[in-house]
Amino acid sequence: MPKIGDIELPEFPLLLAPMEDVSDPPFRALCKEQGADVVYTEFISSEGLIRDAAKSVMKLDIYEKERPVGIQIFGANLESMLQSVEIVEKSNPDIIDINFGCPVKKVVSKGAGAGILKDIDLMVSLTKAMVERTHLPITVKTRLGWDHDSIRIVEVAERLQDVGCKAISIHGRTRVQMYKGVADWAPIAAVKNNSRMHIPIFGNGDVDTPEAAMKMRNEYGLDGAMIGRASIGYPWFFKEVKYFLATGKHLAPPTMEERVEAARRHLQMAIDWKGEKLGVFETRRHYTNYFKGIPNFKEYRMKMVTSDAASDVFDAFDEVLQKFGDHVFEAH
Ligand SMILES: Cc1cc2nc3c(=O)[nH]c(=O)nc-3n(C[C@H](O)[C@H](O)[C@H](O)COP(=O)(O)O)c2cc1C
Repeated sequence: MPKIGDIELPEFPLLLAPMEDVSDPPFRALCKEQGADVVYTEFISSEGLIRDAAKSVMKLDIYEKERPVGIQIFGANLESMLQSVEIVEKSNPDIIDINFGCPVKKVVSKGAGAGILKDIDLMVSLTKAMVERTHLPITVKTRLGWDHDSIRIVEVAERLQDVGCKAISIHGRTRVQMYKGVADWAPIAAVKNNSRMHIPIFGNGDVDTPEAAMKMRNEYGLDGAMIGRASIGYPWFFKEVKYFLATGKHLAPPTMEERVEAARRHLQMAIDWKGEKLGVFETRRHYTNYFKGIPNFKEYRMKMVTSDAASDVFDAFDEVLQKFGDHVFEAH
């Protein structure tokens, strides 16, 4: 069974990917309930943490019930990264993850995120220094390489392992690809097949059906799957994948009642966590998927995503349950 440091995981664990403005405590809690084995926070700026920027510090909040949870940080400056490790430790996460994969310009231009893929020596020395600074397991999330011509992920992974990294999640795209094209899992399998590797290698990118997860396990032999977009507004995805991996059969999709209940709890947890205004605003992006495929739904969706008062959104949920309670959903 794969292990991240001392954290024991089940066979082929499913990890909730770090996603900005998505992987917050309420959503992580829902994914955990539905079978996610490890959850990660969205990326948090090491510079922001050091400045005590309220927005960054709030992202460190974790609930007991979501463990094991990893806090992901990014940055390219060694001193800042080390200082932020000390701040992160105060939140008592189970894992600290380093983001070496974010492709956005404002991160990359500072040499952070996927920007570090242009300087593998720095990537390795930064990881080493962080491993030495904390008793918590350090994991890394990265991409295949900067561009197609500079894919050296087998060597990079080996070097990260050698300096004490405890697991690597690899998104099967390069920085240049951003989110375009199809994720290529073959180079991730090459990392796994390197006989020197002994830490878990998790595959990431386009695991959007239970069949895709099965393929990643059976044909690519990876240690687990990290799941991002397929879970947005659909925390049941973890349970559905697990059921399919165990039985080869599809679970029936959640009923309208279950969806409304999840949306309600999601919104309530978000309000409890960050207040009505932000809670209402930041939960909006999930509703499209919670209620995907219902005909003539626009009026209700608009109410959910434009209302500022939580009571109006809760009313919209009630109306949806009354009007569409019998709707039969198709499998994900
Ligand atoms: C809205 C959004 C926000 C993301 N934010 C982060 C992040 O904060 N840290 C990170 O390492 N990756 C981030 N990613 C990348 C995902 O973790 C994942 O690598 C990518 O979406 C591919 O996996 P998927 O096909 O399962 O979605 C983000 C992706 C999305 C769609």
